Amino acid sequence: MIPILELKRQYLSIKEEIDAAVAEVFESGWFVLGKNVEAFEQEFAQYCGTEFAVGVGSGVEAIHLALLACGIGPGDEVITVAHTAVPTALGISFAGATPVFVDILPDTYVMDVDQVEAKITDRTKAILPVHLYGLTVDMDPLLELATDHGIKVIEDAAQAHGATYKGQRAGAIGDAGCFSFYPSKNLGAFGEGGLVTTNDETVADQVRMLRNYGQEDRYHHKLKGYNSRLDELQAATLRVKLRRLAEWNARRREIAVTYNKGLSDSGVITPVEPLGREHVYHLYVVRSRARDALREHLKEQDVGTQIHYPIPVHLQEAYSDLGLGEGALPETERAAADILSLPIYPELTDDEVRQVIEAVKSFPG
Ligand SMILES: Cc1ncc(COP(=O)(O)O)c(C=O)c1O
Repeated sequence: MIPILELKRQYLSIKEEIDAAVAEVFESGWFVLGKNVEAFEQEFAQYCGTEFAVGVGSGVEAIHLALLACGIGPGDEVITVAHTAVPTALGISFAGATPVFVDILPDTYVMDVDQVEAKITDRTKAILPVHLYGLTVDMDPLLELATDHGIKVIEDAAQAHGATYKGQRAGAIGDAGCFSFYPSKNLGAFGEGGLVTTNDETVADQVRMLRNYGQEDRYHHKLKGYNSRLDELQAATLRVKLRRLAEWNARRREIAVTYNKGLSDSGVITPVEPLGREHVYHLYVVRSRARDALREHLKEQDVGTQIHYPIPVHLQEAYSDLGLGEGALPETERAAADILSLPIYPELTDDEVRQVIEAVKSFPG
């Protein structure tokens, strides 16, 4: 069986360093917001090319707190996509704002930036592009729109650690970037974690306060904040893994190239990588009109698959209050019906990659 993801392989490949980092935290007796969090924040900011990075409790909290820090709140609208993990929209809802959806492009699955301007109203305070699957959104036109209308750009980079747009890393392009370290991510923790990147010191300071009960200094609460702190165990192990991220992303890209070649005449549509945007293949997503039968076939061939994501946000019960029914976002809905994620992780062997290709090619549909 080739599972869609097997995190144990990664742990075993760096076991000694991880075990030592964990033991050091246990022995230090300091578990929340300490020297590992501070060091990781510096190292991650440097990796992304931003001035600041602030560790928080999760990716959804990174979105929530980044929006609050950028002054977005109740009554405001934030333009984003419905073809994403639901927490993208939840982060907006947590801030008290309303998500407004535009459709995606059928080839890259990310935001169709040409649709954004028509959705801007006087309540629009931010655009939240999602760098889905590890591919950045076409950011230049978005930044131009945002400047023209005086609104913020907050990147959902939860799936795009290390991805680039014209040489700039995801998270370093807009006013703030939001990362998740959910265990399955390209840079994943051994538990929950998230982070906000920014070049704006005020935004960084606000997120730092908001994550820690609104405290400016100990026992001085300037804001009604939250408990959304990155812990020392996660930061210590993320530091070890960050040193491997470039190598791991390179291996993901290598596997994607092999898949692209091997599947070119297989009947499925393979991912595209527009010029100037380095894809980090958090997910390798193919498209087929016979998706469900293909998935069943792959299961019989012992290849694990997943659908990211089967129900767009606007069709979720939780968002029925938006009043958007089927047909509101045609490309989003079509993608949800056709897409299938194949296994892609750095520890996948060349043999397994070949097996996946053969399994897809043997699908009679
Ligand atoms: C695109 C996207 N945004 C936001 C999130 C939320 O991150 P977390 O699970 O760390 O809250 C995730 C991951 O689940 C994600 O994939």
